[in-house]
Amino acid sequence: MEKTSVLILSPLPDFLMEPLRAAHTCHDYFHAEDKAELLAEVGEEIRGIVMSGGSMSPVALLEQLPKLEIIGVFGVGYDGVPVDWCKAHGIRVTNTPDVLTEDVADTASALVLMTSRRLIAASHFLHAGAWTKGPFPLAHALRGKLAGIVGLGRIGKAIAQRLEAHGMRIAYHGRTKQEVSWEYVDSLMALAEAADFLIVATPGGAATKRLISAEVLATLGAKGTLINIARGSVVDEAALIAALQNGTIRGAGLDVFENEPQVPEALMQCENAVLLPHLSSGTHETRAEMARLVVENLAAHFSGAALLTPVC
Ligand code: 8YV
Repeated sequence: MEKTSVLILSPLPDFLMEPLRAAHTCHDYFHAEDKAELLAEVGEEIRGIVMSGGSMSPVALLEQLPKLEIIGVFGVGYDGVPVDWCKAHGIRVTNTPDVLTEDVADTASALVLMTSRRLIAASHFLHAGAWTKGPFPLAHALRGKLAGIVGLGRIGKAIAQRLEAHGMRIAYHGRTKQEVSWEYVDSLMALAEAADFLIVATPGGAATKRLISAEVLATLGAKGTLINIARGSVVDEAALIAALQNGTIRGAGLDVFENEPQVPEALMQCENAVLLPHLSSGTHETRAEMARLVVENLAAHFSGAALLTPVC
């Protein structure tokens, strides 16, 4: 049987590329020096796309792939895919939900601990030999503090469970009140005002673009820390840098940025920020499961079976 042609839009790990190459003819758009030439050569035969969660598949590119049938996202977030356009053109989209929930929630709760107890700074303090000259300054306890979760989806709930185990109180804001024991707050401003930690766990995309504005940060105030494991686009990064520099908020714990892997120098200089290189789902176990879902969704589609984890 002739292999199906698939366009690879992002750098992907070998344990995903190997099974993809075994089943498909893969064309590496990401690393192609002349992308227009590659599209001119193979655009007509491409039937599938594979891309990571943080990357983009703009309409202008999809329009050049007349035989495209399916986009497999190696991630839960599909904000880089024009889903409405895909629906209108009968293109299926899949993602990798559930398998990464626990790891992402672990990373969020680690960011809460690292920022509240200043664990990274404490480790640097010891490595620098400073302990012999005196103790590390006291930090802040978690028990009794309010974690305000913005977006109580699967990941938001897993974060809430972990932070409850640290003795924190939990409240959340989202489009709708849910059947959960945690307090629902119907405005983001009211949540920011009450929260000690404002934790962003919403999808990315147009609906949440710069939701965490200068005003939200000012309302969170000097008692507050911002945690973001969602998408950089949800936070006004320039406003966040100013809020960290001016002490408008106490600190930030971030796994995602507006223009990854570029992080503004001014943000890297903020000592009250813990910054991670978008690693929340980055464990051997989880990435293997994510890769399996990508491969099996494509296989299901091209064999006419039901998709395992369809977005549309
Ligand atoms: C991944 C993500 O880092 O799931 C997502 O939406 O952003 C991350 O888990 C990424 O998709 C893997 O390349």
